[in-house]
Amino acid sequence: LVSLFSRFPGGTSVLIWLLTWFEKNCLSEDCAADLRLHGKLLLSGSHLALGGVRNVSLNLTISNAGDDAYDTNIYFNFSREVHYINFLQREEKGISCMLVELDFLKCSIGFPFMRAQTKYHLSVLFDTSRLSGENETLLFLVHARSANPEHDSTLHDNTLELSIPLVHEVDTAITGVVSPTSFVYGNSVDRSRFVQLDDMECSFQPLNFTFQVINNGPSRLPGSTVDIRIPNRLAGNGADMFHIIDTQVSEGRGNCTRHRNPKPCTIPQDKESIFHTIFAFFTKSGRKVLDCDRPGRACLTISCSLSSQAKEEATSIDVRMLLNTEILQRDSSSVIQFVTRGHVQLDDRAVEVSTGLPEEISLVFEALHSQEPRGYVVGWIIAISLLVGILIFLLLAVLLWKMGFFRRHYREIIEAEKNRKDSDESWDWVQKSQ
Ligand SMILES: *[C@@H]1O[C@H](CO)[C@@H](O)[C@H](O)[C@H]1NC(C)=O
Ligand SMILES: *[C@@H]1O[C@H](CO)[C@@H](O)[C@H](O)[C@H]1NC(C)=O
Ligand SMILES: *[C@@H]1O[C@H](CO)[C@@H](O)[C@H](O)[C@H]1NC(C)=O
Ligand SMILES: *[C@@H]1O[C@H](CO)[C@@H](O)[C@H](O)[C@H]1NC(C)=O
Ligand SMILES: *[C@@H]1O[C@H](CO)[C@@H](O)[C@H](O)[C@H]1NC(C)=O
Ligand SMILES: *[C@@H]1O[C@H](CO)[C@@H](O)[C@H](O)[C@H]1NC(C)=O
Repeated sequence: LVSLFSRFPGGTSVLIWLLTWFEKNCLSEDCAADLRLHGKLLLSGSHLALGGVRNVSLNLTISNAGDDAYDTNIYFNFSREVHYINFLQREEKGISCMLVELDFLKCSIGFPFMRAQTKYHLSVLFDTSRLSGENETLLFLVHARSANPEHDSTLHDNTLELSIPLVHEVDTAITGVVSPTSFVYGNSVDRSRFVQLDDMECSFQPLNFTFQVINNGPSRLPGSTVDIRIPNRLAGNGADMFHIIDTQVSEGRGNCTRHRNPKPCTIPQDKESIFHTIFAFFTKSGRKVLDCDRPGRACLTISCSLSSQAKEEATSIDVRMLLNTEILQRDSSSVIQFVTRGHVQLDDRAVEVSTGLPEEISLVFEALHSQEPRGYVVGWIIAISLLVGILIFLLLAVLLWKMGFFRRHYREIIEAEKNRKDSDESWDWVQKSQ
């Protein structure tokens, strides 16, 4: 209630009473606050690469379209894995922020009150370098509130949910070595160079493979699977040549499927005739390539699941195997090339950012036949060659005889010659008598 005295010209005084109503919890059109929040997460891409992006910024604009709002605050709820760094405000000033809890931030706007029809710009910086990626999205809950009441119809724009998908972005590479890269097999090769297993008469060639998976980041690789494929048979229906002794992932950071070859020592018994052996000897000239990428190959697959790998961390897989050389002996190639392949596949949670590093590798090793014929084979070869030679000679002789090559008709030849001479002489005589 305000009273005003005005002295008008002429000395008359007028007393004017003005009555103003202050309303507690005023909700009428002209006195309720109307806070509005707008904002976005600032990031260059559409997702946040874990480990790759260090900080994110929340750019917010708060405006008050209603009456002055007392004790206006913006509250932020976020994951405990992100850390509040600081805030920036534009020229308006009047903003102050305080971290109430590790995951709860409170920013006061224009204390003691945010004036009607004003706008504040605020950006809040968070450190995301320690996100584990346990959750698939990073969520910020932001809401604005003041001590003034606000119409229910205008409350919807007082809260914001800002979220961004989290992605494990990795650049994996696989490398590998095989030892030895070539070996010689055959009957003339000393058996002591091979491995013999208990109660087995087979000679095995030991082979060691080492594959290494490297995560070049930027994120941690949550998990991966490495498939190793080894051509296991010479022919589609042949016996399995390989026997896996051991598979090992470095520091126990993974597991490989165990494959057992029920009959590691198979000696093929078929086609054991001497002719086959001789044939095999003569045809041992070609190069045979066994590659799992070619269709119709029977391959052995070792599947290893690897656990999480930090950035720049490498995990290696060692595979020790035995190759049954008895099966190779039956093959007619002089060089058998084995192409084994290793391929790394990421966990569903990770995305490969390719920079040209290979996710697949092929390791090649060669089995070389000693190429020396066995003693009895040489004897047989000489005998058969002799036999074939004599046969061909006889055949030719018979053929020529049948064609009459050996029956020369001397008399007819001599008579024919004589007749010719006679006619020549009579011709001479005729010429002379002329
Ligand atoms: C994140 O931090 C780096 C270095 O501290 C800085 O250069 C960059 O501008 C920050 N990013 C954002 C979005 O603020
Ligand atoms: C985000 O907020 C900062 C500080 O207020 C400002 O400099 C920048 O221009 C804003 N960026 C966008 C895209 O709004
Ligand atoms: C935000 O965090 C505060 C303090 O921990 C808590 O009281 C409030 O319920 C949280 N709000 C939401 C929406 O999670
Ligand atoms: C993941 O999300 C759940 C539910 O949204 C939440 O309770 C948990 O704290 C989050 N974990 C992290 C590490 O942010
Ligand atoms: C294979 O590895 C084992 C154990 O690491 C080793 O004893 C053996 O000599 C290796 N063999 C070859 C052919 O490298
Ligand atoms: C490997 O297998 C064992 C037993 O099956 C299991 O306890 C372990 O967690 C596995 N490790 C990995 C890295 O998968």
